[in-house]
Amino acid sequence: MSVGAPRIDVTVAEVVQVNDLIKRFRFVRTDGGPMPTFSGGAHVVVDMDDHGTRRMNPYSLMSDPGDVSGYEISVRRDEAGRGGSLYMHRHVTPGMAMQISYPVNLFPADARAKKHLFLAGGIGITPFMSLMAQLQPMGQRFELHYAVRSLALGAYVDRLRDAYAERVHIYVDEKGEAIDLKSLLSTQPLGTHLYVCGPKGMIDWVKATATGMGWPKNTVHSEEFLAPPVGQPFQVELAASGKSIKVGAAQSILEAMEAAGVDAPYLCRGGACGQCETAVVRCDGHIHHHDHWLSDDEKASQTKIMPCVSRFEGKALVLDR
Ligand code: FES
Repeated sequence: MSVGAPRIDVTVAEVVQVNDLIKRFRFVRTDGGPMPTFSGGAHVVVDMDDHGTRRMNPYSLMSDPGDVSGYEISVRRDEAGRGGSLYMHRHVTPGMAMQISYPVNLFPADARAKKHLFLAGGIGITPFMSLMAQLQPMGQRFELHYAVRSLALGAYVDRLRDAYAERVHIYVDEKGEAIDLKSLLSTQPLGTHLYVCGPKGMIDWVKATATGMGWPKNTVHSEEFLAPPVGQPFQVELAASGKSIKVGAAQSILEAMEAAGVDAPYLCRGGACGQCETAVVRCDGHIHHHDHWLSDDEKASQTKIMPCVSRFEGKALVLDR
């Protein structure tokens, strides 16, 4: 996908305040047709015109993949973020025309799994909602362990309990409840795949625990879209297109390239998929890598960069783009 990739023209059909922090948005096709089919765990990139600033944020689809009459996403308000979630919360209303990308799935159910073990934290519940809606009618074995800060902020707890009953386990932080991960992982049947989506600390904890207990790498799946961090502005030279671009304090290199008319590839826009990987032609300074994609060695070598999330500090950065 790139900034020039085809988009779907949609109308906002519904906006629901789910709790103090979360709003749910439903999009339908403006031409009245069905949405493209998708599989559980997929996301779309929502295009926003935030008073002249173009924002493109990825959000997991949470609606039933069997229902192509519309797509639903949930957005957690982030007061400290760069503005995408605030735009969605403050300015997106029913009837509004928007554009979204075609769905992409970086977090699908693994067809080899004999059982799917889902671990969610906070707003990380959304991809599991479409995954469970997909797996239930297929008769697939799954179980959800969902950690929330409080019941008031635990989005969709009642809906999940109603739909999936004893397959749903809720842990409320403020009640001192926590997932007993070691015992959960040690009692799973052979062939179980583990999926985690939530805050970085939770993902790191789950992955490290599973690895330490000998779970094969290809049975542990995670998804986290990192928000591009803010920082000092800097200059980047683009060798292939012959352009010099300024990356603003609240802008990613990818966004600065797009604003300069350079069509760069992306899928997740959150440092997770590898699609935007770009070779560094020259680096006189220090690259601040913020992605999950490059290895530690690749990061240290300063020969590659993920422009969707990483930043630069120094005299000169030349990229092969
Ligand atoms: S677009 Fe996915 S890592 Fe940059």
